[in-house]
Formats: sequence, C-alpha cells, structure tokens
Amino acid sequence: MLPSDLIKLKKNSKKIIVLTAWDSISGSLIEESGADIVLVGDSLAMVALGYKSTLPVTLDNMIYHANAVSRGFKKDFGSQPLMVCDMPFLSYQCGEEKAVEFAGRIIQSTYAKAVKIEGAEPEIQGVISRLIRMGIPVMGHVGLTPQSYLNIGLKKQGLSLESREKLKGDSKALEKLGCFSLVLEHIPEDLAREIQSNLKIPTIGIGAGKYCDGQVRVTADLLGLNEKQPPFCDPILQGKKIFADKLKEWVQKERIN
Ligand code: KIV
Repeated sequence: MLPSDLIKLKKNSKKIIVLTAWDSISGSLIEESGADIVLVGDSLAMVALGYKSTLPVTLDNMIYHANAVSRGFKKDFGSQPLMVCDMPFLSYQCGEEKAVEFAGRIIQSTYAKAVKIEGAEPEIQGVISRLIRMGIPVMGHVGLTPQSYLNIGLKKQGLSLESREKLKGDSKALEKLGCFSLVLEHIPEDLAREIQSNLKIPTIGIGAGKYCDGQVRVTADLLGLNEKQPPFCDPILQGKKIFADKLKEWVQKERIN
C-alpha cells in the first residue's frame, strides 16, 4: 500500500488501523495483527529507550529502530503494512533544507514510505509543503503534540473556542498542503467528528473519540507494558504484570531445581 491509497479506505468507510512498533518483535506482531499501518513513532523514546519524553530521541535512533521494525516483517515489500516513521524533535524545526535532508535519510535508509510531522505552525507548514513537493509523503499530527509539551503540557487540546477554531483551520491547511492523512491526538470527540467530516484525507485518532476514519495506538500502552498509562488508552491486557509474574515464577522454580 502507498500513502496515497489511504484515501480510498476513507471513501469506502473502511476503518484504518495504525499501531506503533519499535523493534523487530513488535514489527512482526503488528504485521501479523493485520494493522494497515505500522508507525515507528518517537514514543519509542519512552517505550523502548527509557526516556521521560520524546524530546531526546535522535534521527539516528529513529532510523536504527525503523530498520529493526522492518526486519521483523515476513511479507514482501509490496504486501507489508505501510510503514510511517516519525521525524524526531529538531529534525524539521531548523528549516526546510535540513528537513529535506533528514526526511530524505529516513526514506533512503529505511523501508518507511512516509514521515509524520507534528504541528501546523507557519514554519512547519513550509517544511511539510517542501517535503511533499520533493516526493516525501507526510502524515500530519495536531492536537496534543508531545514534542511541544514544554509549551502546552500533555493536556487535552481544543477545549476553548479559540483552540477549536485553530485546530479546524490547521487541519484544513494540512490537507491543502497535501498531507495524505492526519493524526488527531487528545481532542474532544465532537471536534474530531467535525474535522473528520470536513476533510477528504483520513483522520487517525488517539484520544479523539470514535468518529475518526482510523485509530492509532502506542502498542506498548495497548498491551499494558508501561508503568504509566495515558488517560485515553485502555490496555487490552496487563502485559507488564503478566510477564513480570511469569518471569518471577520461572526464576523461583529454577533456583529450587
Ligand atoms: O510517537 C507516537 O507513537 C505517536 C502516536 C501517539 C500517534 O506519535
């Protein structure tokens, strides 16, 4: 699947499922799950690298992990899930030239077919437009944008009238620039619904209610592997506890034998 094929899924009202991966085991599990898109998100900073935020993760980290993820795929390139890789903090905030070089490195040295960029400030819009014109598909991301948490915290966005209007305008602008889809993170359900119905490109929600064209989850949150859970992801199992208990049981049994 190519990024541009995604719009057909929206037209056919087929829900788009996106899961994050950070290494070959998670890549392989997600390919087997049948998800449409594997996102190598910069959430790997917390999920896999033990950082407290997404800010410390580097371009080299992203490329290293994206390659590990695709080594976990069994299917051939054409039938694998579409792999999208996050552009990490400071890989696109320092101007268009650098952004083209860094996004180009992701596309050239991994199997990612698109990059994801947070925000829609005028400078970011310039970068997104340039990348798309240079042949690099971009998934947008608005609402709670964790790379800006020092400014906006990790709070729900779109609560005031001003913030709602801004998010609607930003979403429309990102579609106009040519983003092939848009992540809506931690915003009210009715706002996400309005944005969804005003866009031709698919909206992919996380903490944005059920009306988006697709849903994205950080797989480690979904499996309950993390110490701290975001308020908008109910785990489908208590993975950390299950694995920890089983390992403890094995260690104790082996000590006796
Ligand atoms: O980094 C990430 O995992 C993300 C998702 C939360 C959308 O950006």
